[in-house]
Amino acid sequence: MKQNDLNFAAKILQDWGVVAFPTETVYGLWANIYDKQAIQKIFTIKWRASDNPLIVHISDISELPNVAIDIPEIAYELWKKFWPGPLTFVLKKQQNVVSEVSAGWDTIGIRVPNHPIARELIALSWVPLAAPSANLSWKPSPTSAQHVHNDLSQRVDYIVDGGEANIWVESTVIDLTVQPPVLLRPGGISFEQLKEVLPNIEIHPHLLWQKSEKIVKSPGMKYRHYAPETTLYLFSPEQDDIIAKIQDHHAQWKKIWIIGSKEMQYKYLWADRFFLLWSRENLEEVSHNLFATLRQIDIYWLDSVYCETFETKWIWLAIMDRLKRACEK
Ligand code: TXA
Ligand code: MG
Repeated sequence: MKQNDLNFAAKILQDWGVVAFPTETVYGLWANIYDKQAIQKIFTIKWRASDNPLIVHISDISELPNVAIDIPEIAYELWKKFWPGPLTFVLKKQQNVVSEVSAGWDTIGIRVPNHPIARELIALSWVPLAAPSANLSWKPSPTSAQHVHNDLSQRVDYIVDGGEANIWVESTVIDLTVQPPVLLRPGGISFEQLKEVLPNIEIHPHLLWQKSEKIVKSPGMKYRHYAPETTLYLFSPEQDDIIAKIQDHHAQWKKIWIIGSKEMQYKYLWADRFFLLWSRENLEEVSHNLFATLRQIDIYWLDSVYCETFETKWIWLAIMDRLKRACEK
């Protein structure tokens, strides 16, 4: 089998199969939205909960009516500004999309990815494709073909290696079936960017870790994700006394490891090991290092790992969401 043969990958997608390939956010695990068996295969391969719907990826706004109905005018405004890109709309589902894609819900998540390989494969296969991130469901999302190999190697029909994904955090998911629209998952497009087009958009209370009567509208929100086996704790470098915590651990002959920024490094001198994320000024570098560290820490067999928290503006709302879910154990 040739490596990175996109025609071959498209053929698998048309026939029966499941292929992993990159988007600009993370690697996805793809199948034809009209092929029930291939869609079911995705759920089996990544051990995904059967109530958690998949995102449908289309190549252009003109395909939107093929998969969604009752499309509000605002969807077209958002499209002009953010598509192709890391923004997923939740809309009412078109009947012909197999119900396995939407996990039985009457709504559907849709986006146009902004990655040359993803766009070419959607075009070559002639069908809309559904994809979740290409990881085992409790693991961090994969940002390289190697991550996909590590999690799923023998279980997918073909993996296209398109190098590293460049955003490293998944798309933002917004519910456009309600008024005002609601942010369901923070991601590559920030809440502040969305507010420019949707001034009345609300954040689902679940994301702010508030108790709420509102149902969890995006099932992915309730599952443990990004979680390493090692127990991870969060601390605020301003409010929590991490130096006392280090002393506590040592008094009990336990080791303590810290994941943190350059600015706070001076507080961690007595920690047993320190993973440097980078300067708090450089968000991009910090998020790349953070996800890479979360993927790695299990190889060290650590007692306790403490990770600094960050603010929740811009892309940080998305990063803090992933971090909190990594700690849920
Ligand atoms: O960046 C991304 O979105 C990546 C790439 C591959 O496109 N995909 C991705 O898919 O992250 P997945 O399945 O790992 O996450 C999809 C999220 C889940 O939290 C799911 O619950 C939510 O989107 N979602 C999908 N359809 C939905 C719907 N109809 N209503 C509410 N939430 C939905
Ligand atoms: Mg995922």
